[in-house]
Amino acid sequence: MKKITATEYDLHLGDATEGLASWLAERQYSGVFAIVDAEVNNHWKPLLSRWKHQFHTQQFIAPFGEKRKSLKTCQSIWKWLMEQGADRNALVLNIGGGVVGDMGGFCAATFKRGIPFVQIPTTLLAQVDASLGGKLGVNFNQIKNNIGLFKNPKTVLIDPQFFKTLPKRELHSGFAEVTKHALIADKELWNKLLKINDLQKIDWLALLPKIIEVKNKIVKKDPFEKADRKALNFGHTVGHGLESAFMNSKNNLLHGEAVAIGMICESYLSHKYLDLPKGELEEIVNFINRFFDKRKISATRIKKACELVKHDKKNDGGKVNYSLISRIGAYSINHHLTKVDLEESLNYYNLM
Ligand SMILES: NC(=O)c1ccc[n+]([C@@H]2O[C@H](COP(=O)([O-])OP(=O)(O)OC[C@H]3O[C@@H](n4cnc5c(N)ncnc54)[C@H](O)[C@@H]3O)[C@@H](O)[C@H]2O)c1
Ligand SMILES: [Zn+2]
Repeated sequence: MKKITATEYDLHLGDATEGLASWLAERQYSGVFAIVDAEVNNHWKPLLSRWKHQFHTQQFIAPFGEKRKSLKTCQSIWKWLMEQGADRNALVLNIGGGVVGDMGGFCAATFKRGIPFVQIPTTLLAQVDASLGGKLGVNFNQIKNNIGLFKNPKTVLIDPQFFKTLPKRELHSGFAEVTKHALIADKELWNKLLKINDLQKIDWLALLPKIIEVKNKIVKKDPFEKADRKALNFGHTVGHGLESAFMNSKNNLLHGEAVAIGMICESYLSHKYLDLPKGELEEIVNFINRFFDKRKISATRIKKACELVKHDKKNDGGKVNYSLISRIGAYSINHHLTKVDLEESLNYYNLM
């Protein structure tokens, strides 16, 4: 079991059963209440039944997903916690992807003015991004993560064995955030990633600490996203616009898929405005195209994305705020760019 220290809490990397057993053995809670993604339960039933008995957990198993990341689902969770008799000394375990982590954490952080919770992320995206840094919340009024707060978990148990059952598309989606971490702050990690050809064959136990460290360092410097933490939005201004523009369409984009395209667009803008070297821009484009299928963004979608980006929460005073890179491994925040820049970058993506 490898221990990584983050702000206020430790992460444990390795077998989750072992991690949970030793972590709980040193603590006393009035009850342990697990919020479990139904898909995870389907694939890991024997493991979760074992946990139920070994750790005396009650389990709230439900299909979650982005559409159910809502206050309505929170009400069911709060109600269930009350029915189960959870009090202020109870512990919540969030077992699932970023949706369960963000929403289960939010429910715990607000239940009886806040009870402790532990994150057990089961997707790559959640292990390298969502479970770290204390951002919790749900979607509201069609805006993502519109209601929420910052609160750190007691610990995060990172176990890459869960990737065995993760659909390939989800694994790739999470890999976009891995790529982002390297591009904004770790050239050495980037050079390691360049050697990867097949995500199924990665030694995650060796690689995850380096990826996690990037986010930990940035969050430590700026926990409430006043400055440096904005660097983590690289690829996301365009990415969110595309994600929304493709929402409810037959060929929807997963978050990471949209971010992957967003990183190509924003690398192009980094080249245009910050002199990101042409060679590095090409290296980024080739790398992303190796892992993500090419999507044609139609003129109508480009227009729609431009409209949606205007409403992005990263805007200050009407201008669209981008986080870019001046070199691979060197982020640069607060660049206010125009609609023309966005269109141009999407046209560049279409050509590459
Ligand atoms: N808090 C943050 O800082 C932060 C950062 C990034 C993303 N997020 C949030 O994270 C969410 C996205 O996270 P996600 O990509 O993990 O989505 P998710 O939780 O919806 O999981 C993706 C899919 O994988 C399934 N799944 C999960 N684990 C599995 C496993 N081991 N085997 C098989 N299937 C499995 C789920 O049922 C789901 O269908 C978004 O809501 C986003 O807003 C939060
Ligand atoms: Zn993201």
